[in-house]
Amino acid sequence: MNVGHHIEILRREFPILHQKIRGNELVYLDNAATSQKPEAVTASILEYYNQYNSNVHRGAHFLANMATARMEESREVVRSFVVAQSIEEIIFTQGTTDGINLVAYAWGNEHLKEGDEILIATSEHHANIVPWQELCKKTKSILKVIPLQADGSWQENFTEFVGDKTKLVAVGWVSNATGVVHPIREIIKAARKVGAKILIDAAQAVCHFPINVQELDCDWLVFSGHKVFGPTGIGVLYGKKATLESMHVYRTGGEMIDRVSFSGTTFNQLPFKFEAGTPHIEGIIALAEALRWLTNIGWDLIQEIEQSQKVWMQDVINSFHELHWIGMAKERVALFSFVHPTIHAGDIGTLLDQQGIAIRTGHHCTQPLWESMQLPGSARASLSLYNTEQEIMVFKKALAKSLKMLS
Ligand code: ALA
Repeated sequence: MNVGHHIEILRREFPILHQKIRGNELVYLDNAATSQKPEAVTASILEYYNQYNSNVHRGAHFLANMATARMEESREVVRSFVVAQSIEEIIFTQGTTDGINLVAYAWGNEHLKEGDEILIATSEHHANIVPWQELCKKTKSILKVIPLQADGSWQENFTEFVGDKTKLVAVGWVSNATGVVHPIREIIKAARKVGAKILIDAAQAVCHFPINVQELDCDWLVFSGHKVFGPTGIGVLYGKKATLESMHVYRTGGEMIDRVSFSGTTFNQLPFKFEAGTPHIEGIIALAEALRWLTNIGWDLIQEIEQSQKVWMQDVINSFHELHWIGMAKERVALFSFVHPTIHAGDIGTLLDQQGIAIRTGHHCTQPLWESMQLPGSARASLSLYNTEQEIMVFKKALAKSLKMLS
């Protein structure tokens, strides 16, 4: 079976893709913002509410025990997906942003002091900038930034930014704005040499490559369910057990306690110590379903599809000489950001939308990146496993038409 057939078969599992928008077949190219959900995922949410909706970890009845069992089985699915050592290392969060804030608060406040350095890169998403800026204000530590080359990749001497004062390296694996894949293995190695902690923002990597946190040897890795065919409002924080144990609590309340009295409170074991309140139960169960779905496709096929999509898109890139394609580094995912010298990206997005094509325009929550490139932002087409060659050709035609109308 060729790649096109595989894509067609996968597409059938996404009802949302089979509709017309303003009279045109929907072409959904905004997958870096959020992926669509296969029927298996939405069915798992309905099944939860129709068959065993109940609160977890506290019930003495059948449904509560069933919901608890399904939630904890899901934790094991996530553990296996990221190849963590134990389920104690898998914390459910609201998403990538929540996971980074958790680490900034529960680790940063306790472990950083004046003059310590946190290293990030110019291309970070705001979620991997602002929590550290706030932490730096509180602890008087310093935020250092790896600059970019013209093709969107990190400057070649990036390991030189790691030094004795570096206490944390917090970097995105894949840029959500340019699609560039960053050399995280090398930066992890450099950080390890100076004893710095390492956080990997895998929000944009999780649907593109297999993750093995033990092989990566990071302290934390965060991602969001909705970028990987799961629901919104659920995410994962992987943390090395010893590192998580060295952290103070973050949100407090029910579930995360061992014993509460007016003379003092003791806290629960991992992973519950970081999961205050009733969790996003159906989100956790549906996230596990999404990870099972992805794993069943197999990484070889996933990467073969993406490779073909990049080749198909190359034709589009080559046909628009007036466009500036951003982040054309060799190591990249199927995400394409571009600007026109005189036409506003927002206008391109609007005209494409009128032709049924969904892209994202603007700064993509990476304002410092655009500032460094002296650009206001871009138009961005981001692909997923269900995007066909034909859709890419429809995009090409619609983009040509839009640019002609706007010129
Ligand atoms: N961070 C998401 C994006 O890149 C929302 O679109």
